[in-house]
Amino acid sequence: MHRVLALLATFLFTTEAFLGGGPAWNGLRVTFGNPLTSFNAVPRTVKDAVADDFKLISACGASKNIIGNRYMKDGDEAVILIFDKNGYIAGIEAGIPSLNSNPYPYQEIMKYFREESGGYKITAYFVNPGNWHSTCFFNLFKIPSLNSNPYPYQEIMKYFREESGGYKITAYFVNPATICSNGRTEAEFNQQGTGTGLYIQTGPNPASDYITIPLKESEVQGTKWTLGKCFYGMGVHYWYNLSEDMSCNDFAPIFLLYNKGKLNAFGWAFQGNYPSTRYEHPSQNTFGLFMKTVPKCLKTVGTISTLHIYLTRTPALNFC
Ligand SMILES: *[C@@H]1O[C@H](CO)[C@@H](O)[C@H](O)[C@H]1NC(C)=O
Repeated sequence: MHRVLALLATFLFTTEAFLGGGPAWNGLRVTFGNPLTSFNAVPRTVKDAVADDFKLISACGASKNIIGNRYMKDGDEAVILIFDKNGYIAGIEAGIPSLNSNPYPYQEIMKYFREESGGYKITAYFVNPGNWHSTCFFNLFKIPSLNSNPYPYQEIMKYFREESGGYKITAYFVNPATICSNGRTEAEFNQQGTGTGLYIQTGPNPASDYITIPLKESEVQGTKWTLGKCFYGMGVHYWYNLSEDMSCNDFAPIFLLYNKGKLNAFGWAFQGNYPSTRYEHPSQNTFGLFMKTVPKCLKTVGTISTLHIYLTRTPALNFC
């Protein structure tokens, strides 16, 4: 696969790199993987989104907890695109289902179960349990509660917003306060490209509740973002406050990618196996390729679902 990547990179390098000019964030692509099927371009204007079968799911003003006109394709919440009032790209969002929205055992059959120490028991007696003079045998079968500690964990809930029985995580590429009020002009979009910054929503008010991601790698130093490893086709990884003995309840669902000292990609990292074909599912034994210190807890969290989001049209040129 590295050979194919290198070939693709050579091709892109010779056709693109010397054209010069234009904004640094000149595209929007998602999903790392096989160059023939991954690094998929997604639309940066509503016009292109509609032509590509994306459908409006909510418009400016529909909710005070989200800003912009949101579009989704084929009901796939892994990639929801956010456009400003003029139809230019303004952000991206991912949704994951809530595991505790209707956990088993369901209410309708709850009479058969008894709650005990965070799980449920179903019980059968082989003699009349009311007759204490006879010997009593009983059979207990415990099933774990699915909602005792569902993902996303409370410790990282600030990155998520509850919506229609699931959770959304949202990144804006321009100051969120401007998205529905002014929007960008065509000239601004052409000059600025995909955006001017990276804002991750961290609370109910998208105009003020967000963290801003440093655009230069030099500005990340001294913050809680922890240096990870370089990986071609991605960049230099930074993870939030990573350490060997951390609890994975604290594992932030975001990573940053810098190339030539500049932020030009980032990604989501969710615990759990979410089925969209947009997601990557890196196996345990690859974590060390992206992290200098792999937290011990990651060995037992099971499948994770990640999504690389590239703010350029040339992810294969991400040589760190
Ligand atoms: C960073 O991680 C340490 C160790 O897991 C934890 O004690 C601390 O609260 C974390 N700090 C922040 C700001 O998340």
